[in-house]
Amino acid sequence: DLAQDLAGRHVVVSAGGTREPLDPVRFLGNRSSGKQGYALARSAAARGARVTLVAANAALPDPAGVDVVPVGTAVQLREAVLKAAADADAVVMAAAVADFRPETYAAGKIKKKDGQEPAPITLVRNPDILAEIAGERARPGQVIVGFAAETDDVLANGRAKLERKGCDLLVVNEVGERKTFGSEENEAVVLGADGSETPVPYGPKEALADTVWDLVAARLS
Ligand code: PMT
Repeated sequence: DLAQDLAGRHVVVSAGGTREPLDPVRFLGNRSSGKQGYALARSAAARGARVTLVAANAALPDPAGVDVVPVGTAVQLREAVLKAAADADAVVMAAAVADFRPETYAAGKIKKKDGQEPAPITLVRNPDILAEIAGERARPGQVIVGFAAETDDVLANGRAKLERKGCDLLVVNEVGERKTFGSEENEAVVLGADGSETPVPYGPKEALADTVWDLVAARLS
């Protein structure tokens, strides 16, 4: 019997990894499967929230009762998140968003020519969606949650990222073999802008999702 502590709330979750196209067949991407974001969406729906799930290239079934908005690139993800965030009580950015995209898109497949050096790929910066929504909250009291996947100095990097992005909570997960990208399990520390640290032991991504919503619900009430 789950507490309906998010009843009457609208929450937005981003999931998956953006793909930044080079030509009609190639892209720059990352290893996000979308599992953590989908677990967050299912957990919020079970607790009574209306859920908008902005899903970047996730090959996962639509969670029941969740409004799924499929996107491809970081620019598309930004548009969908900003639109949904306008009347949202909370936004959780679990998606792995490309910081950069190729400067140009080739309308035809890029060909290799004999005896020619490979052409360099020039990148340009993508918008930082989390920093944008945390900086100009669509509504007073809106709770903004970021994620950070780190490989070293996990907590120090997480704390710095929390401050730089200006979000209320930041879920720091360490990249590893059987956690974070692609796996069924995860392990994390949820950092709060108030200085709090909530460790979440190794376990199913649902368990981390539930802890995130516990912390969000406490900040909404
Ligand atoms: O999808 P899974 O396979 O289940 O894996 C889950 C996960 C590892 C993808 C997830 O738990 C996670 O950590 N997501 C964030 C990945 C990451 O590396 O984020 P980042 O450190 O690049 O970005 C920090 C935060 O800013 C994130 O909330 C991100 O959504 C946001 N961001 C980043 C760049 C950008 N241009 N705009 C953003 O909004």
